[in-house]
Amino acid sequence: MRILGIESSCDDCAVAVVEDGRRVLSSVVSSQNDAHAVYNGVVPELASRLHTEHIVQVYRTALADAGLGPHAIDAVAVTSRPGLIGSLLVGLSFAKALAFSRKLPLLGVDHVMAHLYAPRLEQDIPYPHLGLLVSGGHTLLALVRGFDDVEVLGTTVDDAVGEAFDKVAKHLGLGYPGGKAVDELARKGDAQAFAFPKPRLGPSRRKYDLSFSGLKTAVVNQRNQFLRPGHEPTLANVCASFQRTAVEILVDLVKSAAASTGVNSVVAAGGVASNSLLRASLDACSSLKAYYPSFSYCTDNGAMVAGLAYHHLLRGERSGWDLNAESRVPALRALKN
Ligand code: KG4
Ligand code: ZN
Repeated sequence: MRILGIESSCDDCAVAVVEDGRRVLSSVVSSQNDAHAVYNGVVPELASRLHTEHIVQVYRTALADAGLGPHAIDAVAVTSRPGLIGSLLVGLSFAKALAFSRKLPLLGVDHVMAHLYAPRLEQDIPYPHLGLLVSGGHTLLALVRGFDDVEVLGTTVDDAVGEAFDKVAKHLGLGYPGGKAVDELARKGDAQAFAFPKPRLGPSRRKYDLSFSGLKTAVVNQRNQFLRPGHEPTLANVCASFQRTAVEILVDLVKSAAASTGVNSVVAAGGVASNSLLRASLDACSSLKAYYPSFSYCTDNGAMVAGLAYHHLLRGERSGWDLNAESRVPALRALKN
């Protein structure tokens, strides 16, 4: 079954063709980073307009790269939630028009579940496992029992971790999005130079909730208060110390969930799953087996959408023409497609 996967939940306009949930025949991503860089963040109105301008060409390139004509597609899958409503609607409208005109099945998928599926495009991963989604828009820890059975254990109560990387990068003049630049500069720095604070969440929060706004604020507004004696406040030292702290918060949470659930494998997905220290730290946990997508499937892409949709379509599931975009899904619940 060849599925066309469409992803437009945020600023990347992406279309892919995937065969049988696994074989990626093409994966095209049109990035809007340059357009949003001047604003140091995604401007929703601009994002949806650019999706409208680019989606037809991205679709055509995805077919051309796969060496296929439109008749070779068996189904259309699209991210229908969560995300920026205007951006989601562009992909959804395109998917509906395509599926309707070609008389193809349509399936809407959840963006979080698609990210957690991403490493399965390239490797076999036994269920259950923990799922750590760390991106520009989402940060959550989940217990993943199957492709359609994801129990969210905790989420960020404020900033996503990628957002914290991007705000720190902006503050240090490293451009947008800045996670990769922080990662690279951190390699030249001393991760112990600053003792940045870790969040202490109150009793109203759940055990696996996270927070990154305090860390971000400490780095951006108060950083020299946290400089350890005898260390230099260089940019590289700021990056290395911030990154170490953010990664420790994530890795400690995964270790704690592994210990209490007895589930000792984890899939890390989303743009921040490209981070070299996060990967090295998870790999260094002797009690954990960690899986990651390739770098190109960490950030938003259509292949993860088509890959996940395959398993639903195989069971005969379809979305109706009344499928709608949803900007949010409740923060803590079992996700079902
Ligand atoms: O998955 P993604 O495209 O975002 C959402 O779906 O929301 O990920 C983009 C995020 C950005 O915040 C970017 O700075 C971050 O991933 N990122 C990184 C790295 N590469 C990308 N953060 C830390 N280290 C990296 N190497
Ligand atoms: Zn994403």
